[in-house]
Amino acid sequence: MKTNEKSINILAIESSCDETAAAVVTDGRDVRSNIISSQIALHTLYGGVVPEIASRKHIEKINQVIEQALEEANVTLDDIDAIGVTYGPGLVGALLVGVAEAKAISYAKKIPLVGVHHIEGHISANYIENRDLEPPFLCLVVSGGHTHLVKVIDYGKYEILGRTRDDAAGEAFDKVARAIGLGYPGGPKIEKVSHEGNPHAVEFPRAKIADGPYDFSFSGLKSAVLNYLNGCRMKGIPIVQADVAASFQKAVTDVLIGNAMKAIEEFKLDKFAIAGGVASNSVLREGMREACRKRGVAFYQPSPVYCTDNAAMIGVAAYYDFQNGVRDGLTLNAVPNLKLGER
Ligand code: KG4
Ligand code: ZN
Repeated sequence: MKTNEKSINILAIESSCDETAAAVVTDGRDVRSNIISSQIALHTLYGGVVPEIASRKHIEKINQVIEQALEEANVTLDDIDAIGVTYGPGLVGALLVGVAEAKAISYAKKIPLVGVHHIEGHISANYIENRDLEPPFLCLVVSGGHTHLVKVIDYGKYEILGRTRDDAAGEAFDKVARAIGLGYPGGPKIEKVSHEGNPHAVEFPRAKIADGPYDFSFSGLKSAVLNYLNGCRMKGIPIVQADVAASFQKAVTDVLIGNAMKAIEEFKLDKFAIAGGVASNSVLREGMREACRKRGVAFYQPSPVYCTDNAAMIGVAAYYDFQNGVRDGLTLNAVPNLKLGER
């Protein structure tokens, strides 16, 4: 990339849900530090994220997480060229903590501010360990709040080809996990018990959307799991948790892989990436890898730590936005339902 020019150091902040995170990223691809303070254990007590508790914990943790990120990267605020912060989508009270913190530092130290879309961050996580990856490529973003099939046209330029009509893939994992008694967070727990289960034990539906070939729907699948569980209870048939989990996981991944490959073929793209918390699922990763291999498509995936929420991915996205001239003022606000590609 750049040789003689000065390096660009981004301090990134992420607080959109239940992780308080800060990172220092140099020249868009070098992660110098990536600190994540997870609140998962706290929210597990309530079976899901409690927004009020999330905001309060972010306030408690954010300063120390930022200090640690700077320290681990061996830099001070004087070395930072821009601050990247997630300003949406997410929980408004949680987002506000990161945005207010970023604005305060930007004002006090006169450092440019770059607001980052959370999903753009997830997509950008792929640049960290894949130095050769450049747009255009297709990316499937699967997280707790989003299921988007996105054509990455260029850095910061996206076209959404498909999205969920109801529940996000991660949300379906979390709801089904609760129904079969696994608790929060559902994704990793379903993946774990599925290792002992038979993915063909129960034939759950694979929803197809007639007027949206790349769109997804998971609420029917969730209802099918609930109906199956009720049916078993009424008939006195024992429920094999691992079989239900593995069959559900297979139904979700089949649909994700099917739609993604349909888009790859239709749009004749030769690079495909996955992103978001659900992208850390090993069955999805292996299924996607194999489907891409069969089609001669290059497959990219972030390490699991860069799939779930983190600030390094926000730092990468902020770098490319910064290079594209994006600057936000102190009027930057949290936008809980921010659309991808909007500012
Ligand atoms: O990207 P993320 O950390 O936060 C959001 O932006 O939503 O994604 C969290 C979601 C949760 O729904 C969680 O259950 C799911 O990702 N998840 C997984 C796995 N690890 C996390 N889903 C399936 N398999 C996993 N291994
Ligand atoms: Zn996320």
